Amino acid sequence: MEGPPPCGPEVDGQTGRHGGRPSTLQGKPQPWAQSWLDGPDFQNCLNADGAFCWQLPAELSQIAGLIMEYFDLIQKRYSVRAYKPDPVEDAKLAKILEAARLAPTGANRQPFQLIVVHVKGREAELRRVYHREWFTQAPLVICACGLPAQGWVRGMDGFNCTVVDVTIAMDHLILAATDLGLGTCWIAAFDVAAARRVFGLPHGVEPIALTPLGYPADQPGPKERKPLTELVRYERW
Ligand SMILES: Cc1cc2nc3c(=O)[nH]c(=O)nc-3n(C[C@H](O)[C@H](O)[C@H](O)COP(=O)(O)O)c2cc1C
Repeated sequence: MEGPPPCGPEVDGQTGRHGGRPSTLQGKPQPWAQSWLDGPDFQNCLNADGAFCWQLPAELSQIAGLIMEYFDLIQKRYSVRAYKPDPVEDAKLAKILEAARLAPTGANRQPFQLIVVHVKGREAELRRVYHREWFTQAPLVICACGLPAQGWVRGMDGFNCTVVDVTIAMDHLILAATDLGLGTCWIAAFDVAAARRVFGLPHGVEPIALTPLGYPADQPGPKERKPLTELVRYERW
């Protein structure tokens, strides 16, 4: 993961050059970065040769490449509701599952299990779990389950972290899938009793979320989100 290339003369690795306007980094358009680039953390400058340079604080220059890729990824993820039948490569599935394994959990209890289901031949029973045509278009469905008896419980009020743990693992999985060009869709509106039957869940294992896993056959729509002013408060409610 490379940071920005040096802009000469190099000043202890803190300067970077890009090809023209400050809306591009590493040669790719990065519209989301514009306000950041325009902000006080960036000191725009021109090189001796006239090339546009931007200067990062040292700590940001270390992680600039990482930040760009992370924001690209979360921008790229969307709820895929049409899938190609193409198989998911075993190596990709392994990486996606590894991403879930590395997720943080309360007190590192890891109170989750992921059930990977091959859809072919099970379409009818899977539709009983979640009745949407696109749900069984992908070659795989993943059911993320929680084991509350293994989850960390906050002593003060008895709050059990299992659902939080499962959700973080699922988000790791979903973002890893996006990174590998695969599509997913969080599904919580499924029939829990049917899920218990179809996936053979024993007592004490709770299905929390499902997702198909396969190659997208649709396109993302616009990201509709509340503005930060409606989502963030500072210092107190
Ligand atoms: C916890 C959770 C449950 C969801 N359940 C469903 C669902 O049952 N069916 C569905 O089609 N989408 C479901 N979604 C997808 C949301 O509708 C979607 O994430 C949201 O509209 C934002 O769109 P985007 O994912 O394309 O950015 C769920 C998302 C989350 C996070």
